[in-house]
This record gives sequence, structure tokens and C-alpha cells, in this order.
Amino acid sequence: MKIGIIGAGNIGGNLTRRLTALGHDVSVANSRGPQTLTALAEETGATPVTVAEAARGAELVVVTIPLKNVPDLPSGLFDEAAEGFAVLDTGNYYPQQRDGRIDAIEDGGLTESRWTEQHIGHPVIKAFNGTYAQDILDKPLPKGDPRRMALPVAGDDEVAKKTVRDLIDELGFDTVDAGGIDESWRQQPDTPVYGLRAGVAEVAKALAAASPERPEAFRA
Ligand SMILES: NC(=O)c1ccc[n+]([C@@H]2O[C@H](COP(=O)([O-])OP(=O)(O)OC[C@H]3O[C@@H](n4cnc5c(N)ncnc54)[C@H](OP(=O)(O)O)[C@@H]3O)[C@@H](O)[C@H]2O)c1
Repeated sequence: MKIGIIGAGNIGGNLTRRLTALGHDVSVANSRGPQTLTALAEETGATPVTVAEAARGAELVVVTIPLKNVPDLPSGLFDEAAEGFAVLDTGNYYPQQRDGRIDAIEDGGLTESRWTEQHIGHPVIKAFNGTYAQDILDKPLPKGDPRRMALPVAGDDEVAKKTVRDLIDELGFDTVDAGGIDESWRQQPDTPVYGLRAGVAEVAKALAAASPERPEAFRA
């Protein structure tokens, strides 16, 4: 699959590593430009590109940057993406440590991914937001292994959600359908499923146990 990854940090870097190892055609961008991505490109065979080029021809675009930087993404970002492309959003709102206050999330009641959708102008599928970056490299297991970890996946577009769930399966993880983006508070920071290393049944149970109230630690 042709995949564009925007963000080459902990998550974007490790997704680049695993997706190239699986044979996908990966382009990767960061904020400083492709000349700063030569080491990752040499290591993985991914193509370093500018943000504006990242979605060109992509069937899947991964947005994996700090939430506060989402509004900086250029308009027309997806103009040259493949027809029917999906967007995977790994983002979290960390108001105290990183992002500062975002009123639309804190007062407006928007889920973090709905806010991101509004900025990028395209529906997203939310996954990996509660996964430790290192687990992307260390925890993949074959389908059917009883120790295989499951990841919650939320999104409104069922076709895009299936694309992402199939890819996560290929990456070595089970998935649990976590509903639509309005329900994706169930997997935001400090919920029972956030950072949970467990299989399908426990992940489903943790999603069901979540509270929609934003925890104090994740308010500005
Ligand atoms: N770390 C984790 O274990 C983890 C787990 C789950 C979810 N997440 C979430 O996933 C997202 C990414 O986290 P991370 O830990 O991978 O972040 P990170 O290590 O800080 O890396 C952020 C990346 O985003 C790039 N970036 C920032 N602004 C950009 C822009 N305007 N255009 C293009 N690229 C931009 C940075 O580029 P430069 O290097 O050039 O500045 C960097 O490559 C965050 O929302 C985070 O909360 C993280």
C-alpha cells in the first residue's frame, strides 16, 4: 500500500520501520524537512518528503504529530491523495505538558480526533493513540497467538476503518471496534484502555468502563 506518514518521531518513526519491513511504499515527513530524515530513510528505505508531498498518491495518510501542531498543517494537504484514501490519527491532547489549552476540546466537548478532523478537513480513524511507541516494534505477534495485544480503533467511515484494522492486523495486533469519533473519548488519555497491554476481551471491557468526563490531569 502507498502510505504517507506525517510526523517522524516516536510513533511515526516506528510505524515507518514496521510498514517498510512489511513491504509497503512509505513516504515520511517531519516539520524540518526531508534533509533531516536521511538516517531514517537509509535505515528503512522510506522516501523522505516535505509535508506537502506526503499525501501524494497515498491510500493511507498517517497524522502523528503533537496535537498543538495540527493547525499548522498546510491546506490542500490531501489534494493529490489517492481516491478513497484513509487518514489514521494517533494524536492525544496533553494540555499541561505539551499542547496548551484548546478551548474547543475543553469547553466545546469535541473529542480530540473530531477537533483534528475539523482542522485537516477529512474524517480520521483513531488508533495507536494509547499504544507505547516501542510496542509497535516489540509486541507484534501472529494472528491467533493468545498473548496478542489488541488496539481500539474508532472512526465513522467503515471502509477506512477496515483499511486501518486490516493494516494493524498485518502489523501484528488484534483490533477492537471502538465506535465512531464522537465516542472516541473512550480511548483518550487516562481512560482504562489507554496504555493497556491486553487482548480483545480486556480491551472491549476497558472501553465499556470509560467515563466521558475529561480527567483533571488532562485539563489545562
Ligand atoms: N510517544 C508515544 O509513545 C505515543 C503513543 C501514542 C500516541 N502518541 C501521540 O502521537 C502523536 C505523535 O507522538 P510522538 O511521540 O511520535 O511525537 P514526537 O516524538 O514528538 O514527534 C513528533 C513529530 O511530528 C513532527 N511535526 C511536528 N509538527 C509538524 C508539522 N507541523 N508538520 C509536520 N511534522 C510535524 C516532528 O517533526 P520535527 O522532528 O521536524 O519537529 C516530529 O517528527 C502525539 O499526538 C502523541 O500524543 C504518542
